[in-house]
Amino acid sequence: MIRKAVIPAAGFGTRFLPATKSSPKEMLPIVDKPVIQYVVEEAVESGITDILMIIGKGKRAIEEHFDRSFELENGLAEKGKEEELALMKAISNMANIHFVWQKELNGLGDAVSYARHHVANEPFAVLLGDTIVKSPDGHVTGQMMKVYDEYQDTVVAVEEVDPQRVSRYGIISGKEISDGVYEIDDLVEKPEIDKAPSNLAIASRYILTPEIFDFIDKTPRGVNNELQLTDAMKAQIASSSAHALRFNGKRYDIGNKLGFIKANLLFGLERDDLKDELTAFIKELAG
Ligand code: UTP
Repeated sequence: MIRKAVIPAAGFGTRFLPATKSSPKEMLPIVDKPVIQYVVEEAVESGITDILMIIGKGKRAIEEHFDRSFELENGLAEKGKEEELALMKAISNMANIHFVWQKELNGLGDAVSYARHHVANEPFAVLLGDTIVKSPDGHVTGQMMKVYDEYQDTVVAVEEVDPQRVSRYGIISGKEISDGVYEIDDLVEKPEIDKAPSNLAIASRYILTPEIFDFIDKTPRGVNNELQLTDAMKAQIASSSAHALRFNGKRYDIGNKLGFIKANLLFGLERDDLKDELTAFIKELAG
């Protein structure tokens, strides 16, 4: 049973400057909801009850978003805005959310290492705070939990990417043992195109076991001089097994401008109050 999740959200967001100069990329809205709220909803609706967010300088807005705002609630109550009031209360009641500060931005592996004491001896989920993963088969974290139940080891979500773009991602190689489920035999962070073992890219969702912390401790800095989670996982799978789930659906990296725009269009088109006008606008743009 996986109850705990870690949401790394300390990264700079340099790909989205100047918007991220003083506000966290995780607070960028997709239609009217910050991306990190979609991520928390995915975790909670998959069964997670306890969340640790890894944050850093300039990320206080995330804490405030999940905290109660009595002033706002009182104001909404006085104006009789019951629907908005219920929405605001629901945000702060979603789960037990804790925050820890990553002192220096040393990479995703370093960010995850801050969760050591919080997760203790339990397996846990990791969901990147700037990425939405959408699947017609339900939340991807929930789907991964089923794979974990079967194999009791590390699970990563993967998606097929254009072979020309493998150098942007962590890439796995492995054998497909059942529909969409792979037994991983290797992992490599941001490989050059001709050195990539496949085009299956790790898609921002992980289930890790507590043994990962010892491997992170022993992992030297890798690509971009950062402590890469993929490198620690690679060391771990040399002595234990790991699985990947090629989910049906798509990942939207909101820290990337195109991902942000695509997600806004997609989620906007799913909204009854927006879809007709948005469709007409897209047709108009397409000429
Ligand atoms: P990214 O690769 O998106 O890096 O991190 P970044 O620094 O956030 O963004 P750019 O590249 O400067 O635009 C992937 C995830 O890991 C978290 C980020 O917050 C994001 O969710 N992260 C990364 C940390 O929490 N700490 C780090 O030191 C690095």
